[in-house]
Amino acid sequence: MDKPRKLFIKTYGCQMNVYDSERMAETLGAQGYVETASPDDADMILLNTCHIREKAAEKVYSELGRLKELKTAKPDLKIGVAGCVAQAEGAEIMRRQPMVDLVVGPQSYHRLPELEAKARGGQKALDTDFPEEDKFDRLAARPKARRGPTAFLTVQEGCDKFCAFCVVPYTRGAEVSRPAPRVLTEARDLVDRGVREITLLGQNVNAYHGAGVDGDWSLARLIHALAGIDGLERIRFTTSHPNDMTDDLIEAHGTCAKLMPYLHLPVQAGSDRILKRMNRAHTAESYIRLVERIRAARPDILMSGDFIVGFPEETEADFQATLDLVEEVTYGYAYSFKYSTRPGTPAAERAQVPEDEKADRLQRLQALLTRQQRAAQDAMVGRVVGVLFEREGREAGQMTGKSDYLHAVHVRDAGVAPGTLAPVRITGSGRNSLAGELAV
Ligand code: SAH
Ligand code: SF4
Ligand code: F3S
Repeated sequence: MDKPRKLFIKTYGCQMNVYDSERMAETLGAQGYVETASPDDADMILLNTCHIREKAAEKVYSELGRLKELKTAKPDLKIGVAGCVAQAEGAEIMRRQPMVDLVVGPQSYHRLPELEAKARGGQKALDTDFPEEDKFDRLAARPKARRGPTAFLTVQEGCDKFCAFCVVPYTRGAEVSRPAPRVLTEARDLVDRGVREITLLGQNVNAYHGAGVDGDWSLARLIHALAGIDGLERIRFTTSHPNDMTDDLIEAHGTCAKLMPYLHLPVQAGSDRILKRMNRAHTAESYIRLVERIRAARPDILMSGDFIVGFPEETEADFQATLDLVEEVTYGYAYSFKYSTRPGTPAAERAQVPEDEKADRLQRLQALLTRQQRAAQDAMVGRVVGVLFEREGREAGQMTGKSDYLHAVHVRDAGVAPGTLAPVRITGSGRNSLAGELAV
């Protein structure tokens, strides 16, 4: 047999890209590639890219610039670009960086083997179609190798919401759900290989409506079915849109013990005028009422969100409404961004907020969110929470895992193996993590 070729994948962007990278590595694994942790000894380098903000997209070109030297020294090295920049820019990437051999959009990953063969044969390989077939169905089956205790599992992809700032509907295409039986089979397989926690992924995961044995299933129905898998201890899902937070899903947070008390529910802004201009189809008030209902079902749930400051035409008063909403909701975790103009999206054509204004608002919002995050973390001290241990910590004898609320927790002299789920008494709150001791 030939010596295995080495594959280096660098992943940018969201969790879905992390999942896709794993699947691409498996698919290319079936073509004789093994993964390497270093680009220097790779025969193929794949950049799995993100297009969500201008900076994210620009990173790809600077990385390609850096790789040029490697390619010059090793002309046989193949360089590929996958992900959302590949979808958005297609052949333009090869025009800007002629050393790129392969460009593949997120909906065409099952065609990687043919594309790889073409690139290896010295031709340029490009595929950014939105084909009819289910790529996940046709991607190589996962080998039965053991793996760590947590895994992502994509159940829904694409988006039909068309928020005025966002490229996702263009890069990932229309909203599609995978059939429930396939998701369940994949989940069982993951559990057989050592996985204890699954995070269901989708750009609009709570819009899930995959075909089940008896008609379409909602995300809540899928979660209840997953909860029936022995050995699967925890279920999470991300990312949700407020308008798809159905009653059965809210209820599941109260009734499904395996569904973790953490919910990422982006609101983007607190001003109704701006939300309307963003095409979000919800108001600040409807979002706040929704969070109240979720908290009624699961009082201890930790809320997390996404925010954009400096969306076109945002005034100081609009921004103040975002701060007011944050004060009212109280987040345990949050991601906030300066609005970034994305060519081809409706908001790109509108009156832009000056850069220094955006920076100032971001700083003020982040100060508030950081305070709330700290408070939520500090409030854990003294409590006993479930921790799923993932790996050894930096100190000798220390183990690290995530709490039910997704906080990183370090336990000294834990004496437990990765994959153990145990109650931990939280004894301290550090900068970005908690310290605790086993409570058994
Ligand atoms: N599907 C998810 C989020 C997808 S993108 C949802 O609907 O919530 C992740 C986050 O990136 C968004 O929630 C938004 O806050 C941010 N984002 C998207 N486009 C952006 C842009 N043009 N500028 C700045 N932030 C953006
Ligand atoms: Fe983008 Fe999310 Fe809006 Fe869809 S719902 S357009 S993914 S921000
Ligand atoms: Fe980025 Fe594409 Fe995810 S644009 S955030 S990698 S869906």
